[in-house]
Amino acid sequence: MSHYEIQGGRPLCGSLAVHGAKNSVLPILAACLLVPGQCTIHNCPDLSDVSATLDILRLLGCRADREGDTVIVDASALIRWDIPEHLMREMRSSVIFLGALLARLGTAELSYPGGCELGPRPIDLHLSALRALGAEIREEQGALCCCRCREGLHGREICLSIPSVGATENAMLAACGSPGLTTIVGGAREPEIVDLQKFLQAAGAQVTGAGTSAILVQGGVPLHSAEHWVMGDRIAAATYLCGCAAAGGEIQVTGTAPDALTAVLSCLEEAGCTVHTGPDWIGLTSRAPLGGIGPVRTAPYPGFPTDAQAILMAALAGGRGATLFVENIFDSRYRHVDELRRMGADIQIAGRAAMVSGVGRLHGAAVRSTDLRGGAALVVAGLGAEGTTQVSELRHIRRGYQALDRELRALGAEIREIP
Ligand code: EPZ
Repeated sequence: MSHYEIQGGRPLCGSLAVHGAKNSVLPILAACLLVPGQCTIHNCPDLSDVSATLDILRLLGCRADREGDTVIVDASALIRWDIPEHLMREMRSSVIFLGALLARLGTAELSYPGGCELGPRPIDLHLSALRALGAEIREEQGALCCCRCREGLHGREICLSIPSVGATENAMLAACGSPGLTTIVGGAREPEIVDLQKFLQAAGAQVTGAGTSAILVQGGVPLHSAEHWVMGDRIAAATYLCGCAAAGGEIQVTGTAPDALTAVLSCLEEAGCTVHTGPDWIGLTSRAPLGGIGPVRTAPYPGFPTDAQAILMAALAGGRGATLFVENIFDSRYRHVDELRRMGADIQIAGRAAMVSGVGRLHGAAVRSTDLRGGAALVVAGLGAEGTTQVSELRHIRRGYQALDRELRALGAEIREIP
């Protein structure tokens, strides 16, 4: 089992272009099923979650070929509408295929996506949205059998009680195949939703309103081949910025819009970093130990992103001063805390709250990734820690970061993968 070995304390310096966004490209690849032709997706990151998604597309009958950071998907001739359990287990966010298959084929079958490291991951909002559009969904022995009702799919108003990113995306894709007007009220406003809308519009779909409180879809419109450039991964960008905040130095991250990370950037400035921004780049300078900041409460966009909670916590744990975190999105998103404690972090947890008291500097240790962003947080902590940190269970990190060690080495970090 390979692991990263990090010699902490090396300041980061230089510029890096962030890879395409995992949480944008996954729904966009699923949306390619709506197009009876070829779609070309540029800036497609090389991540294990993307490979798993391409495997599912191929299993369904698509041609899916990668040429560098471009992926070409041809969904002209689908041969299946079911996703086997082992692929669903590999990536629970494959539930996004439900809406896409329902829209294209009128039927879909996949096993119930289980929970994950972040706790139970219900999909009740996904199912109620699809049922609202006319889907009949049976849940049998852990499998979801979904088909359009006799009258077929039809546009209508969908109200989401939680601005669920995945449920919003599933509703958008299913609505594209539902003749008539669908209004999605209370949907997620994340930048990745806007990127999905851009792709759908490029394919001829009549979708507007993404990023606002109401998304409108005029469904039943035939779609055609499209080309799309995936937005930069804002959470990966936040990871590099928090790494620099922890280790010190001065970096520039290009390929992501600063307004996609406003909440994170303001926390880093409050902690003592200097932040400069341009239309598609973010510069950060970190000199002194980071200070404590006001409460960090995770929330749907444009609030503080839950995916950045662990990585900011890791940076602040090695600073000075206290910061209260409140994780409001997921039930079990503090699994990285025990590993940070092994590095000397002083973190007290009470329910959804975690009080981080900066200890001045963490020390290196052998730690284990517990999930994707928790693993990235341990790398951030190792960059600023005294001595050597070993981070194992890299499979979690590979789900969402393209060549994390190589990118950090290019910025001056002493990190290498030990087989
Ligand atoms: C997406 O997950 C992201 N994943 C997550 O990123 C991200 O943390 C999350 O959105 C929140 O921003 C992808 O885009 C692939 P949700 P998703 O539905 O869609 C509850 C990462 O690290 N809920 O917005 O699954 C749910 O339990 C990953 O890159 C229901 O109750 O998240 C959670 O508490 C982790 N019923 C809240 O809503 C439902 O039907 C938000 O979940 C659906 C969700």
